[in-house]
Order: sequence, then C-alpha cells, then structure tokens
Amino acid sequence: MRRDGLAPVGVFDSGIGGWSVLREIRRELPREALLYVADAGHAPYGGHAKEYIAARAHAVAGFLVDAGAKALVVACNTATSAAVTSLRARFELPIVAMEPAVKPAAALTRTGVIGVLATERTIDGEQLARLRDRYGRDVRILSQACPGLVEHVEAGNFRGPDARRLLERYVRPLLAEGADVLVLGCTHYPLLRALIEEVADGAAIIDPAPAVARELRRRLEAAGLLSTASAAPPAPRVCTTGSAAQCARLIALLDDEPLSVETVTLPSSAVPVA
Ligand code: DGL
Repeated sequence: MRRDGLAPVGVFDSGIGGWSVLREIRRELPREALLYVADAGHAPYGGHAKEYIAARAHAVAGFLVDAGAKALVVACNTATSAAVTSLRARFELPIVAMEPAVKPAAALTRTGVIGVLATERTIDGEQLARLRDRYGRDVRILSQACPGLVEHVEAGNFRGPDARRLLERYVRPLLAEGADVLVLGCTHYPLLRALIEEVADGAAIIDPAPAVARELRRRLEAAGLLSTASAAPPAPRVCTTGSAAQCARLIALLDDEPLSVETVTLPSSAVPVA
C-alpha cells in the first residue's frame, strides 16, 4: 500500500529506551506524526536468543505497518542486530535502524581506546563484529554487556544509587583500560545519561540518536514521504504490550508530558526465511 506524507512514522523498542530516539526525531522532524510501541511485556530483549528477539521485532513491526506507518525506526540496538535484515526483506517501507557509534568514537578518541556499552545480544551480535573488523585495526574497541541497566530504566530508576553502582561496575574497568570515549549501544542508556556522566570521569559519551533522526529525515526525503502537514501534529500515539500506567509514568518522569498510553497484545510472529 502506498503511504502518504501524513501517515505516521512507527518507532519501536523493547520498552521505553526508544523514547531517547523518539525525542530526537521530534526535534529533527517536528511535523511528523509518530506512533511508538514499547514491547515492555517482553522486555528486556538483551538476554534472549536472537530468534526470540527477531520474532518480537516482526510482531511489533507488523503491527506498526498494519497501523499505517509510512516508515519504521527500529529504536533498539538489540532488535536491529537480531532482525534488521529480515525486516528489510519483509517490508518495503523505509526502515531506519541503530548502529553502535563506533565510527564517530574511533574518530574522537585520543587514547586510541573506546568502550561500547550494550546488551549481551548486541555485544555478541554480527553487527558489532563487523564494526570491530572495520575499525578495530585503528583503535582498541572494548565492549561491556550491561545486564540489569534496562531493568532500572524500565522501573524509572534514572538516578538512584543502585543504578549508579551497577554503572560504576561496568564503566570503571573500561576507564582503567584507557577508554576516553563511551558509546551508548543500547537506546535505554541515554535515559541514564546524568548518571553515566557522573561515573565517566570526563570520558566523551556518544549517543547515536541525533544521527538516527537525521538519517530518518534523509530516508523520508529520498522516498518523497516527508510530512506535508502545515502544523505540528498531536503528541505521539503510544502503545505498550506491558502496563499502560507504567509506560505513561515513565514518559511523565522523562519529559513531564502527560500522554495516554494504550495496551496492545502482539503475539510473536514467525520470521520469514529470507
Ligand atoms: N533498548 C534496547 C537496545 O537498544 C533493548 C534493551 C533490552 O531490551 O535489553 O538494545
């Protein structure tokens, strides 16, 4: 089905992490209508098998396409790593996805050591392996899986001492090895940015979300799908497979924006063989 510029952009994540990307999209493209799905009933994705994550990504993407999305943003590194190839094979609309910001980090480091923070599945995924092959000759790429951080974010613990202790445990060894740039390789982590800055000891922190929003602009432009609306659209429509009240609470905590959230049920989809 041909979509027009007024159709929404569908954005999804395992939970509220993709909100860090959605915020940047709103800044870059304030005329775009947005439809966000938090798959919080199945979060966190990061410790699951690739097949499980891909099945979830297909279920959510199918919902967004059926709801009329003109483009998709996979605002989740873990889902990108597990499913972006099969999503692009299945759906014809523009699909923008995440990539750990190893390239800008490699350009920025002075010590020649960078640290990537991400979920377990992103750390052992093919996407990061390709980035290591490409940039690992010039810089040392340290990677750190961070189980437990997503749970803190989903609970709304953006500044608490427990989240801080966990971050110290993950970040300090990277700093001790000389990392002077930290790549946020999971979209939940920018929501902990204040704490990460406190423990980063002056290391630069790279969040790829602004670059993803600019890439979305380019892709919509190229497809002739930029919004033609003459005024800003209403607030994003937000759906979750978890608790609507908790999702609304998280958004209010993050952005002080009272949004109503719908609960949806999305059974896992089989992933078509490409
Ligand atoms: N926000 C996600 C990511 O970017 C997923 C985290 C999770 O569910 O484990 O990787």
